[in-house]
Amino acid sequence: AMPANEITLPTASDFHIHLRQDAMMRMVVPRVAEGGVSLAYVMPNLRPPITSTEQALTYKAHLEKLAPNVTFLMTLFLSPDLTPDEVRRAKQAGIVGVKSYPRGVTTNSDSGIESYEIYYPVFKVMEEEGLVLNLHGEIPSDDEKDVCFMNAEEKFLPHLAQLHADFPKLKIVLEHATSKAAVDMVKSLGDTVACTITVHHLELIVDDWAGQAHHFCKPVAKYPHDRKALRDVVAEGHSRFFLGTDSAPHPHTAKETAHAHAGVFTTPLVLPYLATILDSFGALDRLQGFACEFGKRFYGVVEKDGHGGRTVTLKRTSFAVPQTYNFEADVVVGTEAGGVVPFWAGKEVGWRIVK
Ligand code: NCD
Ligand code: DOR
Ligand code: ZN
Ligand code: ZN
Repeated sequence: AMPANEITLPTASDFHIHLRQDAMMRMVVPRVAEGGVSLAYVMPNLRPPITSTEQALTYKAHLEKLAPNVTFLMTLFLSPDLTPDEVRRAKQAGIVGVKSYPRGVTTNSDSGIESYEIYYPVFKVMEEEGLVLNLHGEIPSDDEKDVCFMNAEEKFLPHLAQLHADFPKLKIVLEHATSKAAVDMVKSLGDTVACTITVHHLELIVDDWAGQAHHFCKPVAKYPHDRKALRDVVAEGHSRFFLGTDSAPHPHTAKETAHAHAGVFTTPLVLPYLATILDSFGALDRLQGFACEFGKRFYGVVEKDGHGGRTVTLKRTSFAVPQTYNFEADVVVGTEAGGVVPFWAGKEVGWRIVK
């Protein structure tokens, strides 16, 4: 059969996105819809982090003002200050999840193993109330234990298994998986455990970020067999693996420097990138499930009135990714104007959103 040259899908959902604040936020948020996305699951790592219901609602109001046609699902940042009462308040206010970063994993045992046990009262209430636990699945580097960026995710996986065993009804998402070990682990666990996969981790391996700051992100891209496992699980159409881009813009000056910040910016072209990459490994037929359906099914979310039922049409046409997306100076917070270099800047993508 002839390959399709045009595909129409429901608008996509990005179940892991960094939308930032101030001038960067004002550049990024209007670009969510440009990428073909109508639902954004928003990360809470602002400065300061979003740790309360009140902060999350204030942030959400800013986002909605910038993009009234996008559904924003909000999260809180897990810290020892998050109380069971605040979790109940969050649920009442429509907040969907709680994100755990590795620095929130405290050392709390004789052997110095990172433990989540101080958070168990919070997880118990999350399980009862139906909030989702979003895990950044890496443990801190440790020379003694031979832990570094390349195996930090794999070494985290026993924590995931333990959390699932202790809270079998708690919905848990292992965010931005990068390894075969992670794919195998999530597959082996129950239906309350899912996994997001980014656009860039379906494309990159370690060689692509070593020395190439614009491909540097956390968790880092790993071996060819790891990328293959991510591609295979997408090609298989496994419904507990879905899109969460981890699009994480930084000013180019914070990337092109001796100590590059972690993050790849994909928001403005999510579906063009994804269609091109899935096409490259023969999985274009899985685009709709992966980007538009599986995540919503796992979360049990329905887009608010008027946001569902929209479609996006992609056409097989090659065009060049912009070199930069510029943001303005912010006189209130005193930051300078600048630019963000997107994923594949200047390179050709094979699919374009035409309507
Ligand atoms: C990020 C953070 O706090 O981790 N925030 C941001 O850029 N606004 C990323 C970072 O600075 O590394
Ligand atoms: O690459 C990343 N960038 N990984 C993260 O976990 C955080 C993110 C960011 O906020 O920049
Ligand atoms: Zn993360
Ligand atoms: Zn992230």
